[in-house]
Amino acid sequence: MRVVILDSAEEMGNFAADIILRGVGEGSLKVLGVATGSSPLPIYQALRDRWTPAVANLEAFALDEYVGLPYSHPQSYHAVIAREVTESLGLGAHKVHVPDGGASDLANEGRRYEAQIASVGGIDLQILGIGSTGHIGFNEPTSSLTSRTRIKTLTTETRQDNARFFPSLDDVPRHCITQGLGTIMDARQVVLIAQGESKADAVANAVEGPLSSMCPGSILQMHQNATILLDSEAASKLKLIDYYRFVFANRPAWQQ
Ligand code: GLP
Repeated sequence: MRVVILDSAEEMGNFAADIILRGVGEGSLKVLGVATGSSPLPIYQALRDRWTPAVANLEAFALDEYVGLPYSHPQSYHAVIAREVTESLGLGAHKVHVPDGGASDLANEGRRYEAQIASVGGIDLQILGIGSTGHIGFNEPTSSLTSRTRIKTLTTETRQDNARFFPSLDDVPRHCITQGLGTIMDARQVVLIAQGESKADAVANAVEGPLSSMCPGSILQMHQNATILLDSEAASKLKLIDYYRFVFANRPAWQQ
């Protein structure tokens, strides 16, 4: 894992955009995995500010969706991805995919989505946030570390975290469909972004804790190309924080 600690949301967004735009420019990044939530917004902002026509050619796959919210609901991930990604980055709607939480055959929807990802050759770079439970996508604690896209039940903690987007806690769906941890691990590169003290425990457990389904984000310790982008608050509980800062400040030119 490469842990990068930066001072502002703008720097974090630009750092991730550098990686993405380099991949797009070199032709190695054609399929982008996109995430919802507030964490990745600086990345989308930086991509918007530095937009090139090649960005519009990206194929995109979202991580997850609530089960039981109509697409028209402003907090459905279909609607969030349409607003924050498809429209703002000028992508073709037919190239942006979100698991269908309203599918008539929900049991098969995960397999259908996996096949769709496979049909374009897999995800080149997956953007991730992390939940306070340590979830990535919506893979809550005790998710199989090799899971594929499937229906999951949300924890009370995650529903409380996301209640800020709904009139009340009762309105937050109880189920979701999410790419599995195995699906996320198949992405050729991952960039996880986290800000704020409320993420500090989850980040410390994911980066330095034991590999455990109790912190699903810890599976990224097994990924060969994972960048963890943090602000100082999200990094504040890392034991090796000075080491990560030193490594980053002294990174070789080829890694800049
Ligand atoms: C949501 C999403 C995750 C996201 C996480 C953190 O529930 N399913 O993909 O990373 O929770 O959200 P935020 O970035 O708003 O803190």
